[in-house]
Amino acid sequence: MSSISLRQIKKSFAGLTILRSVDMEIEKGEFIVILGPSGCGKSTLLNVIAGLDDCDDGQIVIDGRDVIGLEPSQRGLAMVFQSYALFPAMTVRRNLSFGMEIAGTPKAEIVDKVAWVAKLLQIEPLLERKPSQLSGGQRQRVAIGRALVRSSSICLFDEPLSNLDAKLRAETRVELKQLHETLKSTMIYVTHDQIEAMTMADRVAVMHKGKVEQFAHPQSIYEKPASLFVAGFVGSPAMNFLDGRLDGAGRFITGDIAIDVSAYAFEAKQGAGEAVLGVRCEDITVTERGVPGSLPATLAFTELLGADALGWFDCLGKRFSTRLGIEAARAMKGEVGLTFDMGKASLFSKDTEQRL
Ligand SMILES: Nc1ncnc2c1ncn2[C@@H]1O[C@H](COP(=O)(O)OP(=O)(O)OP(=O)(O)O)[C@@H](O)[C@H]1O
Ligand SMILES: [Mg+2]
Repeated sequence: MSSISLRQIKKSFAGLTILRSVDMEIEKGEFIVILGPSGCGKSTLLNVIAGLDDCDDGQIVIDGRDVIGLEPSQRGLAMVFQSYALFPAMTVRRNLSFGMEIAGTPKAEIVDKVAWVAKLLQIEPLLERKPSQLSGGQRQRVAIGRALVRSSSICLFDEPLSNLDAKLRAETRVELKQLHETLKSTMIYVTHDQIEAMTMADRVAVMHKGKVEQFAHPQSIYEKPASLFVAGFVGSPAMNFLDGRLDGAGRFITGDIAIDVSAYAFEAKQGAGEAVLGVRCEDITVTERGVPGSLPATLAFTELLGADALGWFDCLGKRFSTRLGIEAARAMKGEVGLTFDMGKASLFSKDTEQRL
């Protein structure tokens, strides 16, 4: 178990800024997920932490020791790469055991660990094959196994499950999470996948354009997104947004409609000005048309999802999603009203795009 402090990490490639001042305090044994769109700098950040890339500025402190300038091997961490980076000439068994052999691990322990990880990742029948004789998903599992057998106090994972099929992905997700409970190593896990982020993380760092926009418990990221970007990126279907203006007297005005926002918990004192109102599909109630405080909407279509359904409505020139029960979705038609639960909604400044 190790603690990791990232302080004002900056990195550019050929004059292009990739990481702009990343700060993160990671506690011993935490499972951190870094979530963000393609190209936002996730892999770059992992490579900098691992020492595979130098940063231009900033400090990386592991267990109180500044590791800038230290070789990757001196940083005491294991990494699973986005591209698996297996040794092509070695069998799967050898790929798994090699790191332990170098580290002088006793033979019996190596045999035990290889057997354990091969069972865990369901690669026992593949142990005598070479990487070229494996599918992408199988290679990925070998790469995960190779990191796990090293029992490092820090494990870095770069999208380790992206090539697995849905079933194996869900199983491996649970295994990795359980493994974290057992090993208690500090884990930093990069993914595009929101379900992985929500289910695995103690805390999620949402990255956007080389910056951490929010670093918090997954539930608070979902419920109280710190910025318009986080609100739009996290959650499926995406949060519904409405442009308008706060009048400073507890009302959000959009067109000729005023929505009472007195139930909203403002971060600071409520001001007036241009704002964006965001509401998740499960926080919208469908009512009869004309109910006071409701927005006029017209049903566009419904989607049955098995356990529940989504209703899609045209409302004030936008398409809104709402979560419905199956029976309600089947019976839904025509002209309705939509009411927002303002206790659960989000308001953002149009200007700064930050939560109000
Ligand atoms: N060695 C390099 N030289 C120049 N540019 C690079 C280099 N490595 C990465 N970049 C650029 O830095 C940006 C961030 O790349 P990075 O690989 O960190 O993104 P990412 O968030 O991991 O994306 P993905 O989700 O697609 O893996 C990209 O625009 C990429 O083109
Ligand atoms: Mg990447």
